[in-house]
Amino acid sequence: MSTMLKLNIFRNMAHLDPLTAQADFVIRSRPSTPQPPPSPRPSPRLPSDQFSRQAEPNLVSPEHLFAHQFSHQGSHRGSVSDSPPPLDPLRPRGKLYAISDLHLAYKANRDAWNLLAPHPDDGLILAGDVGESLEHLELAFSVATRAFRAVWWVPGNHELYTQNGLRGTAKYAACVAAARAWGVRTPEDGFEVWEGEGGSCVVCPVFALYDYSWAPEGMGPVQAVEWAGEEGVRASDEALLHPEPYASRQEWCQALVNRAEGRLAEVGVRWPGLPVVIVNHWPLRRGLVSLFKVPRFIVWCGTTRTEGWHERFRASVVVSGHIHVRRTDWVGDTRFEEVSWGYPRQWKECADRGVGINEVLREIWPGPEKEESDTGETQFRWYG
Ligand SMILES: [Fe+2]
Ligand SMILES: [Fe+2]
Repeated sequence: MSTMLKLNIFRNMAHLDPLTAQADFVIRSRPSTPQPPPSPRPSPRLPSDQFSRQAEPNLVSPEHLFAHQFSHQGSHRGSVSDSPPPLDPLRPRGKLYAISDLHLAYKANRDAWNLLAPHPDDGLILAGDVGESLEHLELAFSVATRAFRAVWWVPGNHELYTQNGLRGTAKYAACVAAARAWGVRTPEDGFEVWEGEGGSCVVCPVFALYDYSWAPEGMGPVQAVEWAGEEGVRASDEALLHPEPYASRQEWCQALVNRAEGRLAEVGVRWPGLPVVIVNHWPLRRGLVSLFKVPRFIVWCGTTRTEGWHERFRASVVVSGHIHVRRTDWVGDTRFEEVSWGYPRQWKECADRGVGINEVLREIWPGPEKEESDTGETQFRWYG
């Protein structure tokens, strides 16, 4: 392909979402201001003799810079530098649900989210792409913590977008601070045991990012982006997801994966035999990704380094989003759940069938057992 032709393709290129290959909404539309969130319910702090804290000590990012950022966050709700209080094992046992890709920049998505039904005994995992702004996070966390006993959040690429100056780890730190202000658990908090219906499991929220290694073999990041561009695909991340203080997104990814692997390795030592739930916005395995209309978007979807995590860290369930294609896959004895809600055009048909946000929440724990009849075929969840 001539250089001139390539340039023309890039000039005409729209930022794409993976499922529909339509121009990306997020960057161009200014979301209307969300409704102010209600006051947070009081955190369930108990005297220390009423529970045994099972979470490991709070682990902040290895970068001193990052720890420094946390220690200087402030909030009208009080300190946000602490991890959430531990889960209360005396509460009735409930289920653990998950959803991702709420994309609250859209009014239709905000309206749907506000219909979240109360689940006072249950937990909820928000697996990234809540939105781009801290206001989106506030809305997500206020509604989720009002409805659920405990809430986890991991960042997606959209949370990391620079909107008002904060770049890279600084934007991530601001998101974590927003989560902590609502008592929401993040990858910066210790992993915890969820004592739920169907027994206990360790919930492991992880932030791993991607490193372009899912491009065809031998391509570096530059070639990978060019390769995707040949079909008119270019993720908004290229313009909005800055890696500072890292030199590149792949360097940031390597640091995150190294850290996550260390933490996940400790789970088996600390809680031998307990089922493990790994949560990461980006899918762990390339083979479980279906990009029907924009296959070359695969470049921005994960890293080869997480391919074997489910076995290495003996995960019972792996939760991810990002692809906007809900599905369940069994790989050996591990259940992989893609739990995206998505853009309004992607869930409209669900809504037309009476399937709303509450019906789409995916039960993670205890969740379905593997059936003898499971042949390893993907179960797509187009309508719930
Ligand atoms: Fe998304
Ligand atoms: Fe995403």
